[in-house]
Amino acid sequence: MDQKVSALLNEQINKELYSAYLYLDMANFYDAKGLDGFANWYEIQAKEEQDHAMLMYRYLHNNGESVTLEAIAKPDKEFKTLMDPLTAAHAHEQYVTGLINTIYAAAQEVHDYRTVQFLDWFVKEQGEEEKNSSDMITKMELFGGDAKALYMLNSELAGRVYSAPSLQL
Ligand code: FEO
Repeated sequence: MDQKVSALLNEQINKELYSAYLYLDMANFYDAKGLDGFANWYEIQAKEEQDHAMLMYRYLHNNGESVTLEAIAKPDKEFKTLMDPLTAAHAHEQYVTGLINTIYAAAQEVHDYRTVQFLDWFVKEQGEEEKNSSDMITKMELFGGDAKALYMLNSELAGRVYSAPSLQL
């Protein structure tokens, strides 16, 4: 594999694990507020990010590349309002989309179509992630100001269940 593409994928493992840690911190924030549904949503989001990291880890190994695990940064976002994690999550997903696009472009440049195909799943996934994070903001804008509606929203989010990624390697 092209060494630049391999290095970018290796870095992305770390970014996905950081994403997991960031979402766990969001769950942590909502758990402390007593909003167990919001906490559940982000706990599952954290699991999905670990899955993303593992897909890249497995892909590199399947292609004979070595993997280096670097330190995972401390989540550094400060949350004050119930909306803060939601806007931070949306901005973070937009950032991750940019990272995926960069790896995609690097793979295309060296005609590494296997990696391009592997990344197609992530391109689609980012579309879903951005829609979800944007919807969360809309819901909070609509219902966050009313205690009963917030209770209902929290109950809805408590119903989210984890499912393993659809991508098979
Ligand atoms: Fe791994 Fe939320 O993107």
